[in-house]
Amino acid sequence: MDEKLERIGKIIADIPGFLVGTASSAYQVEGNNHNDWTLFEKAGKTKSGVECGIACDHYNRYEDDFQTLKDLGYNAHRTGIEWARIYPEEGKINSDEINHYKRFLGKLRELGIRSFVTLHHFTLPVWFAERGGFEKKENLKYWEEYVETVTRELGEYIDVYNTINEPMVYASLSYLYGEFPPGKKSLRSYFKIGNNIMRAHFAAVKIVRKNDPSSDVGLVKNIVHFKAYHTWNPIDHLMRFIFDKAFNINILKSLKTGKLPFTFSKISDADMGDFLGINHYNINLVGLFAPDLMIEHEKGDTNLTLMGWGISPKSMTHAVLLAKKYLECPFYITESGIGTNDDEQRQQYILDYFQAALNTLENGVDLRGFFYWSNMDNFEWADGFGPTFGLIGVDRHTLDREIRESARLLGKIANYCTK
Ligand code: FCB
Repeated sequence: MDEKLERIGKIIADIPGFLVGTASSAYQVEGNNHNDWTLFEKAGKTKSGVECGIACDHYNRYEDDFQTLKDLGYNAHRTGIEWARIYPEEGKINSDEINHYKRFLGKLRELGIRSFVTLHHFTLPVWFAERGGFEKKENLKYWEEYVETVTRELGEYIDVYNTINEPMVYASLSYLYGEFPPGKKSLRSYFKIGNNIMRAHFAAVKIVRKNDPSSDVGLVKNIVHFKAYHTWNPIDHLMRFIFDKAFNINILKSLKTGKLPFTFSKISDADMGDFLGINHYNINLVGLFAPDLMIEHEKGDTNLTLMGWGISPKSMTHAVLLAKKYLECPFYITESGIGTNDDEQRQQYILDYFQAALNTLENGVDLRGFFYWSNMDNFEWADGFGPTFGLIGVDRHTLDREIRESARLLGKIANYCTK
């Protein structure tokens, strides 16, 4: 363990300004939100049947939570803003919530923790969802209004913007597999969301450039490592090609060229932003005879996480190199983590995935940071509170925080960053 730590440390000590920290999202930790997810949960439509409710009460406990990140030695944190708090109703800004986020982001600033702030992380205000959400191109004006407001009101507290979290995870789980609201199962909707979310990204970059030009901005893309289930089956290879294209490659190309992922339209003055955030968790084997056409681990692998995912550091290397194939830009690992009850396993995961990401430096990748998902156990969407990803445990009854050894390990890594 110590050798691995030292190896990582030596590498990042040589990269000026390298960031090491944690990632989370607004809805999964804040508590007491009201959005499309809240309604979906109340209608009993999630797999787990569990409601997010108070979540981690991070909305009220953020000062202590951020202080803990500081004490652990991290120099960056990825957080989020809840659109439904800023615009609980169409066209009406809630100034109390703006003030809340000023204090909230101001605290990170005060502690010297670099803030990465996600504008959209799966959730929608109810009124926006009722209007058809991102499926309707004409609704993008509401998104732009929200981004205008955030950049104008909160820009001075934000270091780095993440426009959209994981466009194709959102498109697939919400519109293709029906597991997230609005629970649709339509390939047509999946394509529409893919296109409109990229439109939303490019529009947001423009607004950030105008209102907060000194901050960096970028998309966060989940990159899955797709492989053929049966290497002897040409159909499985074809499926692998299609999944890779529809989930990964079309988005990377869209960022590069401005061409929308699932139509021939192109945004002529598209600006991808300053970097790409890569989220990486999964290896997926796709094939005609694979259970449900896809498994999320190598064949026969029984060492699975609480999400049922395999552990495959090489896939992290693959994911970053895939992004680099299409984009010459700085990259951050904006999420990677493990849902487990075994903190030893979490520590191994951190060391192995961190190293796997750093291995891409040999290929000329401009990697600038690593954010572990997540600083604390939180509401894992359709899976409820079961899969514990946190470096810090959260007691579901008292909401007390418990710092795990893995949190300290990430702190030791962060210690190598140039000050
Ligand atoms: C990612 C999501 C994040 C979290 C992790 C486990 O796809 O961005 O909110 O749920 O998975």
